[in-house]
Amino acid sequence: MASSLLNGAENLKHVGLISPPRVSFLGSDFHGNCFPNRVLLPYIRNSNAKILVPKCSLSASRPASQPRFIQHKKEAFWFYRFLSIVYDHVINPGHWTEDMRDEALEPADLYDRRMRVVDVGGGTGFTTLGIVKHVDAKNVTILDQSPHQLAKAKQKAALKECKIIEGDAEDLPFPTDYADRYVSAGSIEYWPDPQRGIKEAYRVLKIGGKACIIGPVYPTFWLSRFFADMWMLFPKEEEYIEWFKKAGFKDVQLKKIGPKWYRGVRRHGLIMGCSVTGVKPLSGDSPLQLGPKAEDVEKPVNRFVFLLRFILGAIAATYFVLVPVYMWLKDQLVPKGMPI
Ligand SMILES: C[S@@+](CC[C@H](N)C(=O)[O-])C[C@H]1O[C@@H](n2cnc3c(N)ncnc32)[C@H](O)[C@@H]1O
Repeated sequence: MASSLLNGAENLKHVGLISPPRVSFLGSDFHGNCFPNRVLLPYIRNSNAKILVPKCSLSASRPASQPRFIQHKKEAFWFYRFLSIVYDHVINPGHWTEDMRDEALEPADLYDRRMRVVDVGGGTGFTTLGIVKHVDAKNVTILDQSPHQLAKAKQKAALKECKIIEGDAEDLPFPTDYADRYVSAGSIEYWPDPQRGIKEAYRVLKIGGKACIIGPVYPTFWLSRFFADMWMLFPKEEEYIEWFKKAGFKDVQLKKIGPKWYRGVRRHGLIMGCSVTGVKPLSGDSPLQLGPKAEDVEKPVNRFVFLLRFILGAIAATYFVLVPVYMWLKDQLVPKGMPI
């Protein structure tokens, strides 16, 4: 049982051995402890953008003891069975605001209303609402593993013309070379095998198509790190880059995002901390070869282990509901312009 409780980190072990030659980050004023020195280089599309040269070692491997209680498909299903009831009102205001969403979607280059877009792990459609500002809703498909989350998306008038389907991010029901844009916001942390999900993103895109994955970043503060490791996957920024590159993406970029009232603080990690993009250079499937899918939402589980993992995961999740409130209080109390 101990091993059932503690598994979940296996997928990341291999990442620790690979160091990409250069990692590009689209700039913002958010700074991780990992990158103390910034080197400002010109970037053709955005004059405010900065390219950061990492000084830390890339992709340190994670301890195998990280339990990641909700990073399993059955657990994610039940987690969202309940969370979907309050999701838009409780989760988004603390972690994923409209201005963050619009900033995070900017690198996705949604410049043409006729683009065919898939929003994977689209949930209640909060990110999709940002997508349909730029693309006709009839060209957008929302996919999610949770029928309860999708039921909320179906109620939104602006999303009435979107296609809404149940499915798994690691095994997408779209043909190869199908979409112009692949967007996924706040979902990767629940995928047991994120590399597989990113390989799927590559497969379903057309040549020249762009993937945009928005997700958490790993905390450096000890208590936040403890709860992050307990709860779900909080990738390091360099891990995103490596997954994209291994899947075959080119021009991989990472833009740092975060709630305004954090004043750029990243030490507690962020549920929505970066927007990573990559371009598919060739048509067809990803060059990356992976074995069979490890987990399925339909797979039976040991009920006792499941319940225990679920409760522990929910406790850790509660910590991350409180962090934005704590940061908001600090932002109110500490004079503007001072670090918090
Ligand atoms: C934090 S919510 C984000 C929802 C939405 N993208 C947004 O921006 O508000 C994460 C979503 O990912 C979905 N999800 C988790 N694992 C998934 C998987 N393997 N395949 C598809 N969706 C998944 C969950 O059901 C949930 O709706």
